Amino acid sequence: MSNRRRLPARLPDRQRDHLIVALDVPRADAALGLANGLRNSVGTFKVGLELFTAAGPWLVERLVAQGDRVFLDLKLHDIPSTVRAAAREAARLGVFMFDVHASGGREMMEAAREGVPEGRGGSAGAQRPLVLGVTILTSLAAADLAEIGFAGGPEAAVTRLARLAQQSGLDGVVASPWEAKAIRAACGPEFVIVTPGIRPASALAQDQARAATPAAAIEAGADYLVVGRPITQAPDPAAAAAAIIAEMQRALVYDGARVEGP
Ligand code: C5P
Repeated sequence: MSNRRRLPARLPDRQRDHLIVALDVPRADAALGLANGLRNSVGTFKVGLELFTAAGPWLVERLVAQGDRVFLDLKLHDIPSTVRAAAREAARLGVFMFDVHASGGREMMEAAREGVPEGRGGSAGAQRPLVLGVTILTSLAAADLAEIGFAGGPEAAVTRLARLAQQSGLDGVVASPWEAKAIRAACGPEFVIVTPGIRPASALAQDQARAATPAAAIEAGADYLVVGRPITQAPDPAAAAAAIIAEMQRALVYDGARVEGP
C-alpha cells in the first residue's frame, strides 16, 4: 500500500491511542459504563456538551482519576479573558485535549494557550493538554457560511483558520476528514489533526455523505479519529472499536519497536 502513512514520532505509539470514543450520553453512569467496557481497547474518551452539561466536571475528574485520557470537547468561544480562565480550569481537570473555536480569533486562541500552564501549577511541561481549534463546523454548508459572512467556501475558510490556529500557538485542529489533506499541506507534519465524521467501511454506504472510513481519514492526514455511535451503539462496543482500529492500522505504518500492541 503505497499511501500508508508512517506514524509520526511525536504521536503515542499504542494503536488504540489514535481512537477517541465520543461518550455522547446524558448520564454519568451510562458514560462510566461505556468507558469501563472500552478502556482496554480505546485510548481516549470524548466528553462533549451534552455529557458535560448533564454530569459536569465531576465526571471528567472521575475518568481522569481512573487513568483515562479525556478530550474535553466544549468548543470554547468567548472573550479572551473568559476563555483563558476556562482553559485554566480544563487544564486543572487534567484533560488530555480540549478545543476552542478558531473563529474566536488570534487573541482568544493565545489566551487559551496562556491559561493552560496556570491550571498546571505554572508548569507547561509534557503533561499539559493539547489545545485544538475548531475550524468550520461540518454541519455548515457553503450557503450557511455565506449567510454568516464567510466568503470563499468551506475549504478556503478551514485552511485559513487552521493556519491562524497554528500561528496563535494551538497544537492542532478538529476538522472533517475531507479537509485533513489541505490542512496537513498548509500546516505541516507536526500539527495535530483530529477528525470526527468516521464510519467503518461496512457502514459507510448507508450513512452521511460527508463521512469517511478510518483508513481514508488516516491516509488524508488525520492523527486521531473521533467515533461515536458506530461504537457506542454497537451490540459489542469493544469489538466495534477493535474493528475500527484494525481499519486504521491498514493505513498506518507502525514502527515495530515502538508499538506495544493494540
Ligand atoms: O457520528 P458520531 O456518533 O460518530 O459522532 C461522534 C462525535 O463526532 C460527536 O460527538 C459529534 O460532535 C462529532 N461529529 C462532528 N462532525 C460530524 C459528525 C460527528 O463533529 N460530521
